[in-house]
Amino acid sequence: MGAPDLLNPERRMLRAMQLSEPDRSWDLESLLAACEWTDQAVAVGAGHGLQNHGFVAVDERVLREISLDLGGDDAHKNGLLEHRIWSWMNDHEDEHPPTMKGLQEAFERHEAGPGVGLLKQLGVSIEGGLLVASNPDEITRTIDERTDFLTSLPALDDTLDQSLLNHFSARKNLIKVVERTVRHWSLTTEGQHVSSDDLQETVVISELTPELLQGEAWKSAEFRAFDVTLEAATPRTGRSHPMQALIERVRSIFLEMGFSELVDDYVQSAGWNMDALFIPQDHPAREMQDTFYLDQPSSIKLDDDVLQAWKSIHEHGGETGSTGWGGTYSTEVSQRPLLRTHTTVNTIQYLAEHPNEACRVFSVDRVFRKEAIDRTHLPEFHQIEGIIMEEDANLQMLVTTLKTFYTKMGYPEVRVRPAYFPYTEPSLEIEVKWRGKWLELGGAGIFRPEVTEPLGITSPVLAWGMGLERLAMLVLGLDDIRQLYISDLEWLRNQPVL
Ligand code: PHE
Repeated sequence: MGAPDLLNPERRMLRAMQLSEPDRSWDLESLLAACEWTDQAVAVGAGHGLQNHGFVAVDERVLREISLDLGGDDAHKNGLLEHRIWSWMNDHEDEHPPTMKGLQEAFERHEAGPGVGLLKQLGVSIEGGLLVASNPDEITRTIDERTDFLTSLPALDDTLDQSLLNHFSARKNLIKVVERTVRHWSLTTEGQHVSSDDLQETVVISELTPELLQGEAWKSAEFRAFDVTLEAATPRTGRSHPMQALIERVRSIFLEMGFSELVDDYVQSAGWNMDALFIPQDHPAREMQDTFYLDQPSSIKLDDDVLQAWKSIHEHGGETGSTGWGGTYSTEVSQRPLLRTHTTVNTIQYLAEHPNEACRVFSVDRVFRKEAIDRTHLPEFHQIEGIIMEEDANLQMLVTTLKTFYTKMGYPEVRVRPAYFPYTEPSLEIEVKWRGKWLELGGAGIFRPEVTEPLGITSPVLAWGMGLERLAMLVLGLDDIRQLYISDLEWLRNQPVL
């Protein structure tokens, strides 16, 4: 049974009662103790509310407590007036019978007068100035009863002799009556069945909601303080691998800088991976320890036109004014299949397909090199590659673009240094400052005429290629690149959201 409209004290009281035997009758004391209240008005109010809901039955009785009034206190100490006069009469009986005169001498006026009235009621008569008792034993017994009555006070009205109570009620100032309401509370069947879940007290606000802030109630509300020292379980939800998250971030930065993404195969020919980029065919990087060549397919067929153009460039510089590398260019070597060693293999093919359209293209993709695995090397890794081709493209534009990218990544300190690549002139190394040190993150440059002319490209092409794992080491604070790929769940769970 739900009890959503109960007030907090009502909830607390009902919970306390449910924790005890169901048919218990609760008095005020035990209720205050059980609810940890000190104010009985709270208990009475809560009980009243619960009674209205039918969850609690209240037995309410008005008790009359009889206690001594001022005159009663005095009578208790010094004896009732009739008792004192009766004693006086008995003390003097033997020598001379007590007279009215003697009584008036022995007692003050305000006592003598009413005293005589009381004695008359008890059976004392005045005969010729003498005080005569016809029933002395009965008078003594009645006075003792009255004295005992006063001694028994305070007491509840219904425990007392009613005729004596009536007697003293009729006399002035001896006793007083205090009325007291006594309540007993007990659970009803409905009350026993209210779910304890419905009896949680909603004492303080522990959560700010828009609804709460739209109203006025929060102004007077009590708010629960956060205890940041408490142990809390870390919520474990599915999440992207940090590398995937980093790739997404890099992507979104280039997309917002106006680049289009290029996605292409990693199985490529040596011709596009190297020859197109004017890397000499006898370059050591082509040898087995650097490049993964493939047995299948046995060769990748290339267009005769490009093969002849590269042959001319490599052997004597074609029409570019360059002297080329000399020697004999092999179209067979050109058509050897391999796993791409850099993503420049894809951007150069993109340019070959669109030689006269200005473009901004990027890719974040996997490359392969025959590297021994160590702290900073992996045989499979990712490059962040990009090109800008447009009529007025220049070196400053290249540097600014790279600085903009790294600033957006959170590394505003970027510098470039002269470098060498066979396919760019000038060539740059890009460095980023991290924890006070300059770290080399990639290469860049403007494609040489030996690269662009055979493909019919006339505008300058700015190009760069940067290591993604190097950047990840920076972002995640790693000193070992292998950490990224060993699937250490504990480590993965604790990585920041990128
Ligand atoms: N391809 C080069 C590398 O793999 C990077 C680079 C790309 C340099 C484009 C210049 C221009 O390191």
